[in-house]
Amino acid sequence: MNDAHSIMADKELLLAIETSCDETAAALVKVEAGRLRLVSNVVATQHEFHERFGGIVPEIAARRHAEVLQAIIAEALERAGAGFADLNAVAVVNGPGLIGSLVVGVAAAKAIALAREIPLIGVNHLEAHIYSAFLPEAGEPPNFPLLALIASGGHTHLVLMSEHGRFEVVGRTRDDAAGEAFDKAGKLLGLEYPGGPALAALADSTKETGVEFPIADIQPPKPPQRAWDFSFSGTKTALARHVRELSVEQVEKQKTALAAGFQSAVVRALVERTFSAAEELEVESLVVVGGVACNQRLRDELSARAREVRIGLHIPPPWLCTDNAAMVASAAYHKVTAKTSAGAGTPALQVPPDRLDLDCDSSLPLRSWG
Ligand code: KG4
Ligand code: ZN
Repeated sequence: MNDAHSIMADKELLLAIETSCDETAAALVKVEAGRLRLVSNVVATQHEFHERFGGIVPEIAARRHAEVLQAIIAEALERAGAGFADLNAVAVVNGPGLIGSLVVGVAAAKAIALAREIPLIGVNHLEAHIYSAFLPEAGEPPNFPLLALIASGGHTHLVLMSEHGRFEVVGRTRDDAAGEAFDKAGKLLGLEYPGGPALAALADSTKETGVEFPIADIQPPKPPQRAWDFSFSGTKTALARHVRELSVEQVEKQKTALAAGFQSAVVRALVERTFSAAEELEVESLVVVGGVACNQRLRDELSARAREVRIGLHIPPPWLCTDNAAMVASAAYHKVTAKTSAGAGTPALQVPPDRLDLDCDSSLPLRSWG
């Protein structure tokens, strides 16, 4: 059996599994010459199964994970030219997320860990998103202290990190997540599911500024408070009111202008709050992850601002921003190899090889390691 210290020695293979929402994903990483290398990465999306309901149906999501996870893991192994016997550790997201979906991934990971007698590493979905920025495919690793904006369908969080594994949530949405706001707006405009990418494509098809929408006027926190919160429900309600007052034909005609205005308001809110926190907290790098980080307008505005204020900006490529298991592998790798100031030279987290009591928690909080 492996002990914590031998996990991820040179050439050892780690399998990561992600099933927390509506993506079934598996990835394999190894360490070569001290550097993490992504060997294979497989993602199966369930969009087509949820489309006709206009949103994720938890029961369908869980059932679909159960149906395809085996094949996804087999494909990740095949692409790596490896088998179960080559695995040295297995990592899995155990929260936050849909409970029925989480259970499928965690049960599979436990079975593999038990059968192969290898360590099992639980990973928080939010820390996984952040660690997508530490994969070589995302470019140079960010420097600490860093501020991470996680903007997805389920979360909009600002997380301050002084070092690996040390997380402080310094902002969050008070209502809808940014991706959720995009999805609801897309639905209001009659766009295809999921609304985020569809609304962005429509908005980007015009150079006009579009209809002006309000953004929440949340005052910056007074020190020592650290709460650069977001709110998107007002912008969404303004769009809903606009749509209600128009005829179907008028909505159809103004769709592009409405989409452009809505995207611009959400992007402005995200950029303003994030840079207000980044400057106040004097971070060296800004990391932007989660599905909404695929948004080109957001990427462009963040880049422009980062250049202006000279903060290192790290936005992984879009395929690493939406849910995947490569980011889970990256978080697990850093979790078992990171040395924190608290642990002075010892791994931040000891991973017992028989840790099969890992629980799923649909609202698992983001906790520091060690
Ligand atoms: O991170 P993710 O794959 O799953 C969650 O953890 O939620 O994020 C999915 C979210 C959805 O709300 C989707 O509409 C949004 O990310 N999204 C976008 C874009 N691409 C995906 N939102 C705005 N613009 C995009 N280009
Ligand atoms: Zn996610």
